[in-house]
Amino acid sequence: MGPIFITLEGPDGSGKSTQAVLLAERLRQMALPVVLTREPGGTSVGQKLREILLDPNMRLSVMTEVLLMAADRAQHVQEVIKPALKNNMVVVCDRYVDSSLAYQGFGLMGEISQVKAINEAAIESVWPDLTILLDVDPAVGLRRHRQRKGAYEATGIRHSECTDGLDRIEQRDLQFHQKVRDGYHILAKLYAERFVVIDTTELGIEAVAQRVWESVAQRLEIAHR
Ligand code: TMP
Repeated sequence: MGPIFITLEGPDGSGKSTQAVLLAERLRQMALPVVLTREPGGTSVGQKLREILLDPNMRLSVMTEVLLMAADRAQHVQEVIKPALKNNMVVVCDRYVDSSLAYQGFGLMGEISQVKAINEAAIESVWPDLTILLDVDPAVGLRRHRQRKGAYEATGIRHSECTDGLDRIEQRDLQFHQKVRDGYHILAKLYAERFVVIDTTELGIEAVAQRVWESVAQRLEIAHR
């Protein structure tokens, strides 16, 4: 089988990280070579950038945020994604370029042309083969997210990026998160050939995992031909 690049996207609290782990496990059960990675923070340089990007005490200009996300991605593409694809692996990435288009583009700038141009330089034409958008109403997603982080902190383990339960980007108002969600829907239409949208509102983790798997299995068959 040839290389395949799968990205998971969605508003905060859409359950993407859980689904990325489940997907990677399922692919491994099929004896496929898998790299599971994420943005921001998929490299050691990226980990440092992630700390800056998500620290609620950092005051970043919009352009700084765009460029730091793109810098994280450029390093990640060079160090992790490109080599894995070159080795015919399946790359499962928790957020990628569409996060910048949705959050920094639609969410902060109201349009995507600048963010897209900067990211085109960062990704060197490495676009995903399949992008799974886990859709959720941001109000529901952020509530879920807050509960999950609260539960996590109750165990005594400090979450590295949040002070009051939400990181710098999650802390933005609901209007911002609504723009991000609407932006994702625009991207799903714009890049219809690689996007699959799963509405997670009424679905439990297992049901979402099944839908994710169906989309991936279909795409793997296509890659097989
Ligand atoms: P995570 O919680 O999914 O790890 O993502 C961290 C935050 O970073 C999340 O609020 C989305 C945001 N983000 C962007 O704003 N732009 C990007 O390009 C990426 C990769 C993430």
